[in-house]
Amino acid sequence: MNTKLYQATTFTFVLFFFFFASLVSAQNQTKIIRSFSSSNSPWRPSSNQTLISPNSTFAAGFKPGLNGFTFSIWYLNVTGTDVVWSTDKNGSSFLSSSAVLSISSTGELRLQNSSSGANLWPGNATGNLNTTLTLGGDGNLVFGNWESFKFPTDTILPNQNITNTELVSRNGKFRFQKAINLVFNSSDRYWTANNAFVKLDSDGKMEQANSGSLITSDFGPNLKRRLTLDDDGNLRIYGFDPDLREWTEVWHATHELCTIHGSCGPNSICTSDGSNSSSCVCPPGFLPGAGGDPKKGCERKIRLRDMKKTKFIRLDYVNFTASNEVSLSGAANLSDCELNCTRSMNCLGFMLKYDGRGSCFLKNDDNGLLVNGYWSPGTESAMFLRVDQSETDQSNFKGMTEILETTCPIKIELPLPPDESNSTTRNIVIICTLFAAELISGALFFWAFLKKYVKYRDMARTLGLELLPAGGPKRFSYAELKTATKDFSNLIGKGGFGDVYKGELPDHRVVAVKCLKNVAGGEPDFWAEVTIIARMHHLNLVRLWGFCAEKGQRILVYEYVRNGSLDRYLFSSNRSGSEETKPVLDWNIRYRIALGVARAIAYLHEECLEWVLHCDIKPENILLGDEFCPKISDFGLSKLRKKEAMVSLSKIRGTRGYMAPEWVKSDSITAKADVYSFGMVLLEMVSGVRNNQIQGSAVESDVWYFPGWAFDKVYKEVNVEDILDIHIKQSYDSRAHFEMVNRMVQTAMWCLQSRPEMRPSMGKVAKMLEGTVEITQPSKPTIFFLGDDDQ
Ligand SMILES: *[C@@H]1O[C@H](CO)[C@@H](O)[C@H](O)[C@H]1NC(C)=O
Ligand SMILES: *[C@@H]1O[C@H](CO)[C@@H](O)[C@H](O)[C@H]1NC(C)=O
Ligand SMILES: *[C@@H]1O[C@H](CO)[C@@H](O)[C@H](O)[C@H]1NC(C)=O
Ligand SMILES: *[C@@H]1O[C@H](CO)[C@@H](O)[C@H](O)[C@H]1NC(C)=O
Ligand SMILES: *[C@@H]1O[C@H](CO)[C@@H](O)[C@H](O)[C@H]1NC(C)=O
Ligand SMILES: *[C@@H]1O[C@H](CO)[C@@H](O)[C@H](O)[C@H]1NC(C)=O
Repeated sequence: MNTKLYQATTFTFVLFFFFFASLVSAQNQTKIIRSFSSSNSPWRPSSNQTLISPNSTFAAGFKPGLNGFTFSIWYLNVTGTDVVWSTDKNGSSFLSSSAVLSISSTGELRLQNSSSGANLWPGNATGNLNTTLTLGGDGNLVFGNWESFKFPTDTILPNQNITNTELVSRNGKFRFQKAINLVFNSSDRYWTANNAFVKLDSDGKMEQANSGSLITSDFGPNLKRRLTLDDDGNLRIYGFDPDLREWTEVWHATHELCTIHGSCGPNSICTSDGSNSSSCVCPPGFLPGAGGDPKKGCERKIRLRDMKKTKFIRLDYVNFTASNEVSLSGAANLSDCELNCTRSMNCLGFMLKYDGRGSCFLKNDDNGLLVNGYWSPGTESAMFLRVDQSETDQSNFKGMTEILETTCPIKIELPLPPDESNSTTRNIVIICTLFAAELISGALFFWAFLKKYVKYRDMARTLGLELLPAGGPKRFSYAELKTATKDFSNLIGKGGFGDVYKGELPDHRVVAVKCLKNVAGGEPDFWAEVTIIARMHHLNLVRLWGFCAEKGQRILVYEYVRNGSLDRYLFSSNRSGSEETKPVLDWNIRYRIALGVARAIAYLHEECLEWVLHCDIKPENILLGDEFCPKISDFGLSKLRKKEAMVSLSKIRGTRGYMAPEWVKSDSITAKADVYSFGMVLLEMVSGVRNNQIQGSAVESDVWYFPGWAFDKVYKEVNVEDILDIHIKQSYDSRAHFEMVNRMVQTAMWCLQSRPEMRPSMGKVAKMLEGTVEITQPSKPTIFFLGDDDQ
């Protein structure tokens, strides 16, 4: 009896305790509301309530910040940046704690800093007294006809229409205008998309105008994503990785942060190692200005007083913008260019491009300011900065000559390409002659000429001439190429993309003509892609000179690279083929080739408009020019393949043995797949055998894995010599070559990591090879086709 009473008391007590406890926690908890109506009005920061979207992906409400409150929308259950919309567009209009959101008696949604303040709600949100504020599952805050999707801040969400919106970075410095241009300081444009953005779909495909599109590297359904204009001025798409529980960058506008205007102040030079940061330095002859921070700008140590007593300091790979730039295409050499600048009173320096055309640009500015300075090997040019004659500073931007020396012999005076304006003039002459004939035959109206213009152009085209915008790749007719290749008689290669023929153009340039197979899309798409490929200039990339897109034909015209592909030099079975026996490459040449290839891939990955993956790096695609200067071929071609093939990974594009594990595991393919392939090539260059062979004999076992084997040799047995190419082993001098060979092998081990995120970026790889960064010991690359890489 007693016990029963005791139990009952305890029970009541416990019950009471729980009731009390829940009461306390309810007081602390924020109230969740599904909609905000005039009956909930007003809403203050102290109301402690949040508006939640139907499936709890998003929340909206007053959010405390450093300086006060904002009314914001944010992603729930993410770590890191969560805010996707805010009433504070440029990071400077915070609300006080007495702010209030209310629906007025006229049905207007009002946000006031205090009960008597002005309405701060963006746009005009009016409904009636029954209108409620709701948050959609897509993160769109809606009140009557008003929606937050029409007033974005720095972020766009999946399925949000970007057309006619403007994004402003949180710090207010940068804008994304008309869904196509990135600008600094309201109008200074530094990046333009190939097509205007329209909408990011939930799979990570960005729909663009003109039926263009781009795909994020985490392409696939159901991820939380956001497109954000970051404070560094770069536009990025992030995807929330549910496993790592963090935002990862899955697309970005420019890889070269230094091309973003306003990164550094006047006269200052932006440099970046290809990572996600940049820094500013002053050029020689300059010191940081006010505050001692080169980011804010640099000033001359010795002012330019007497413009007749000046000299020039050479800054390799540096480019500046001046208010007035004069391009002198006629002045092909350095002294011409220099003389022109010296003569000009407001010329602050000049830039010389080493693209074979010797283009010279004078940088004139009356205020003595050079802006948007940046350093990038992609510029293939040098800036000659004008300083006072008494200046003693040495250039801190050397490197062009060094890079040229380490990868290719210096050849500053490259042959000039043929003058394309001639053919345009000829076209015009032909058209005018035809027009004159037309005049005589009686057609006197100008519109008649315009109507016929297209016909004349086609006639001109059949005569082998073409009108093209300047600077683009040349368009060839099929007949021209047929003649150049002697009716496609000299087959020099068969590749995955098509057969290659040797030919000679009428101007005696020797070309490699590649007839493509399985190319998707119509002529405009092809033209667009080809233009992108042709824009990629790098010493270690095969130059694209032109193309042909007649009827079903899709042909690319490349410079001819004399010495053939690397595989013929590397593997003994290929070396003594039907042709003459190729020499064995010595260690220095192998190292130079490795470095050149790494730099060219880094250029493709890091300095091009979109990430251009190669996807098929193997010795066959590395051609050797004069002095064995390596040149990568077939880059950018995977983009010409049908779009579906790009999306569905079922169609594997690489070559077995060089393909990264993620191809097989159908993970998303990023630039790191190329890093893996490069690692394999690197190892083959050291060992002189194919990755599926060991010392000349094919390996049958499925368990044997070349990188793993090499790893054991290098790190466990500490015997690099065991993996060296037996054909030149005797010439291996450990004192002279160890450092170089060891760097190649160690770099390869990093490239061959089975998890993509473990592999370094291609820029880093180039640095590892150069020896400018320290190489730590990687973990052992493990075989992947057995499906287990979690060791
Ligand atoms: C709101 O009021 C606070 C304090 O009175 C002030 O600091 C803040 O700038 C105001 N915010 C806006 C957007 O006017
Ligand atoms: C959330 O809701 C939206 C529409 O209401 C829907 O499209 C989306 O798939 C939902 N997301 C999840 C994770 O359930
Ligand atoms: C996006 O909005 C514009 C007008 O603002 C409209 O013309 C266009 O059709 C919309 N696009 C999509 C995909 O909804
Ligand atoms: C921004 O533009 C204005 C006017 O065009 C100019 O006066 C100002 O110096 C510019 N600011 C910067 C940081 O370039
Ligand atoms: C938050 O995300 C994690 C992992 O994505 C998931 O397991 C968890 O259920 C989520 N929590 C809520 C409340 O949605
Ligand atoms: C150098 O900068 C100017 C002005 O921004 C630009 O037009 C030019 O293309 C740049 N040159 C190179 C080689 O990048």
